[in-house]
Amino acid sequence: MSLPAFIFTALLIFQAGLVVTGGAVRLTGSGLGCPTWPECTDGSIKPIVRQAEGQLHAWIEFGNRLIAWLILILALAALIYIVKKLKNRKDYKRLRALALLQIAGFAGQVVLGGITVLTKLNPISVSAHFVLTLPLIAGALALRHRILDKPVLSVKPTTLTVSKIVVALTFIVLVIGTVVTGTGPHAGDVDAVRYKLDERFISWLHADAVILLIGLTLALIFVIRAAEEELVKKYLGKLVLIFLLVSLSQGAIGYIQYFTGLPELLVGAHLLGATLVWISAWRIKLTVSNNSK
Ligand code: HEM
Repeated sequence: MSLPAFIFTALLIFQAGLVVTGGAVRLTGSGLGCPTWPECTDGSIKPIVRQAEGQLHAWIEFGNRLIAWLILILALAALIYIVKKLKNRKDYKRLRALALLQIAGFAGQVVLGGITVLTKLNPISVSAHFVLTLPLIAGALALRHRILDKPVLSVKPTTLTVSKIVVALTFIVLVIGTVVTGTGPHAGDVDAVRYKLDERFISWLHADAVILLIGLTLALIFVIRAAEEELVKKYLGKLVLIFLLVSLSQGAIGYIQYFTGLPELLVGAHLLGATLVWISAWRIKLTVSNNSK
């Protein structure tokens, strides 16, 4: 693997991984494993022996914080690579801005992480923490897409419009998902306040939005097959099919976890699935956007 492929792929993987490790923090009840911020416990940046919160909780929360720092290192490496090696590219400024946004996003996550701990895992702050990772994952994916010169296809206006609606609806599904979590048993921790909503209502709203999303994705496949030329049919059609399959699997996990009392392992799988759904949606967005590089 070449150096740029390594840096930009690692950045994407860690951005997505942070969501899953963040989930592990929540699902193991380790949100306050490091009760202070930016230190882990008073007087120490890392967990200490005999920490009141317990070693396991402290290290899980601390591990999540470490991954965030790793992301900063990778984002800086990405910026340095772009500035040193890619100055002559037509999209240099765009690439530089995307890398800078990864760094700004890191700063945003650190501040939000701090607010989350200081507000004792308030659900709005926990949801925002997740939602902020979505543009960061999208940005990391965009960087990788450009650096590895992945195709950008010119498509018919209808395909473009339906694709954009699919991606926007995916975002909405994800945001509603965080509200479902913030209403139910796996919000911040046992004592954290919840959104004052009916759990059943918000879960069904989330699932209904997913059903609409699946319907629109099928419509997109139909539009591509009916109106696009062979290359688009093949390449974009494959990306949309992957999105459909990932979303269907994610939907299945969603229903199973709902009807089996939200076991932690499935909820963790649902969180991983959520990042994969988002990545596969954003790949569609990047492929059909504009072809000016
Ligand atoms: C494309 C499909 C789906 C996506 C992208 C998605 C995404 C999400 C996200 C992002 C969360 C919040 C995770 C967190 O903050 O920890 C969530 C939670 C949840 N989702 Fe979905 N979801 C999908 C389908 C479904 C379906 C069909 C159901 C069926 C009822 C469902 C049920 C739930 C439940 C019950 C939770 C709360 C889990 C918890 O206690 O943490 N999801 N979903």
